[in-house]
Amino acid sequence: MTTGNLALIILAAILIQVAVVVLIGLYRRRGQYLELGERAGTKEYISTPQVTIPPVVESITSEQATTDLAWDGFKEFIVQHRVMEDGNNDICSFYLVPVDGKQLPTFRPGQFLTFKLSILDPVTHQPKTVVRCYSLSDAPRPDYYRVSIKRVSAPADRPDVQPGLSSNFFHDHVEEGSRLQVKAPSGHFHLMDDDPLPIVLIGGGIGITPMLSILNTVLESDINREVWLYYGVRNGDEVIMKEHLQTLANRHDNFHLHLCYSIPNESDAEGVDYRHSDRVGIPLLRATLKLMRYQFYVCGPKPMMESLVPGLKDWGVDSGDIYYESFGPATLIKHEKSAPEATTAEPITITFSKSGKSLPWDPSSGSLLEFAETNNIEVESGCRAGSCGCCQTAIKVGDVDYNQEPDADVASGHCLLCISTPKGDITLDA
Ligand SMILES: Cc1cc2nc3c(=O)[nH]c(=O)nc-3n(C[C@H](O)[C@H](O)[C@H](O)COP(=O)(O)OP(=O)(O)OC[C@H]3O[C@@H](n4cnc5c(N)ncnc54)[C@H](O)[C@@H]3O)c2cc1C
Ligand code: FES
Repeated sequence: MTTGNLALIILAAILIQVAVVVLIGLYRRRGQYLELGERAGTKEYISTPQVTIPPVVESITSEQATTDLAWDGFKEFIVQHRVMEDGNNDICSFYLVPVDGKQLPTFRPGQFLTFKLSILDPVTHQPKTVVRCYSLSDAPRPDYYRVSIKRVSAPADRPDVQPGLSSNFFHDHVEEGSRLQVKAPSGHFHLMDDDPLPIVLIGGGIGITPMLSILNTVLESDINREVWLYYGVRNGDEVIMKEHLQTLANRHDNFHLHLCYSIPNESDAEGVDYRHSDRVGIPLLRATLKLMRYQFYVCGPKPMMESLVPGLKDWGVDSGDIYYESFGPATLIKHEKSAPEATTAEPITITFSKSGKSLPWDPSSGSLLEFAETNNIEVESGCRAGSCGCCQTAIKVGDVDYNQEPDADVASGHCLLCISTPKGDITLDA
């Protein structure tokens, strides 16, 4: 073998060694690359920090909260105790425990209970079934539910009419030891915990109740979300659970309390008893919230809802980040839906098949519930806000438009009369 051949063999061996080393290196790097790709695929490499949302009472999904553990129809509860909450003695909390002593199903904070009451009709003096919804005002607990109810008087301009039936019944006749028929917690207005955004809760007057439930739930759990509460009342006599709210604010750095008195009493000291001498409105939110994305939850009187919800949208808040609930008869147009205009020249005929009546309807006749009542058609009703499901009626022919999203579940082929108007001629099973 010549020296040249020997050199070539050595060179070839070196090249083979180098190639093997390079190939092994490439193979290892490919493995690392694939691993990185897989981790990135599972979002381990996303740039924003992940927030794990732990369960509040126990690990439970939204569906479980209202189906698996809940009960069908009405169940008997006993009033364990009642507490007057405000300086005017207008708002009373009722603590309810189940008569069967079973552990209570959890619920999603923001949801409500539906009550079936038997009340003596002030006009006929006969017992009358009255159905009303009340938001749960505390975090889910295994042993009691709490609702906080405001006494409703007759409207200032109609002293001739009866004061609110259910609320006055609660205040005047529901005592410790009273028994009540209660439907399981329900409602689509509740804390959304799938997206851990900071939360802005806005409660006006008695609209504070679902906010208290959401607030207590978030702060008692280790859900690490920033929470702002804007609570609007006229003055210190109307505010409820102030001490509790102030204790929470002192204890939790992630809770920012903004008490707003629109017409403070002389004895209410700004900066001590309350923070803003103002209504809760967009200017206040703009002045006190940093520019970032939030989830907004709103519940309050009609004027507040009518200015705040569109105001938030005008401010640039995505509709998907605004959740709201109205306690009264449907006042707010939800999801940009509007009641149908009287564009059609054709009169609309509503046929009530059971009653054997066919009557002309026009948009001034209001909802199908109002129309039925005006024409003495017997229909059930409760909340008049699409929440309790009482007015659910089968549609035999035709279809309806909803002026807001129903909160109660509606069976196929049925509608909620209280929040619907006819799309055209319609036959109802009523
Ligand atoms: C989802 C949901 C959650 C709710 N949560 C709460 C809560 O947490 N706390 C709370 O306090 N409330 C809550 N509400 C409101 C509650 O359900 C009742 O609507 C409220 O208590 C009034 O009911 P009422 O039976 O006392 O009054 P109603 O008898 O329904 O009367 C309401 C008003 O109408 C007036 N009125 C009566 N008859 C006439 C007439 N012929 N003409 C004109 N006016 C008349 C009454 O004087 C009264 O001012 C909630 C409502 C909903 C839908
Ligand atoms: S009256 Fe309650 S849903 Fe219509």
